[in-house]
Amino acid sequence: MRPTIEAMATTGVLFVCLGNICRSPLARMLFEHHAAQRGLMGHFLVDSCGTGGWHAGGPADPRSVAVAREHGLVLEHVARQLLVPSDFSRFEHLIVMDANNKRTLIRRGADAKRVRLIREFLDGELDVPDPYEGSRENFEHVYSLLDGACAGLLDGLAATRTKGLT
Ligand code: 4NP
Repeated sequence: MRPTIEAMATTGVLFVCLGNICRSPLARMLFEHHAAQRGLMGHFLVDSCGTGGWHAGGPADPRSVAVAREHGLVLEHVARQLLVPSDFSRFEHLIVMDANNKRTLIRRGADAKRVRLIREFLDGELDVPDPYEGSRENFEHVYSLLDGACAGLLDGLAATRTKGLT
């Protein structure tokens, strides 16, 4: 069967952290939220995963769920580990939370050009700090970083898509 225009136009975006219960599920949710607000959701294939598999099959961390709820959003999530090599072919953009995630992906065979720190789309080549051992305030800080970075990432991807069409 011939692919539809929609399928041909879909851009794969995979958000990656260590455990896939705190940061990358929030990033995925926020990216989808911003994309939906702009009427762009159908343009993207979006998912998240962890480089580690300890939490695979479980829900998001309750503190990530709570911070999302405080901002009026519902974080639905089932954690999974990175799949190599299929995630590298399904997702064109590998968006990591920190330098450690980036090193791990490249060590596992990802094309370094396609691995980007999420804060590059906000305020520079910085980590989104791992909040797992932290407090509620740490989760609020992570949420605010990811909200800004996901809006910036969407701006960047939308511009690239437009350029690609002209
Ligand atoms: P995440 O946070 O990478 O943002 O999901 C973590 C969650 C769990 C663990 C570490 C970080 N852990 O060691 O279990």
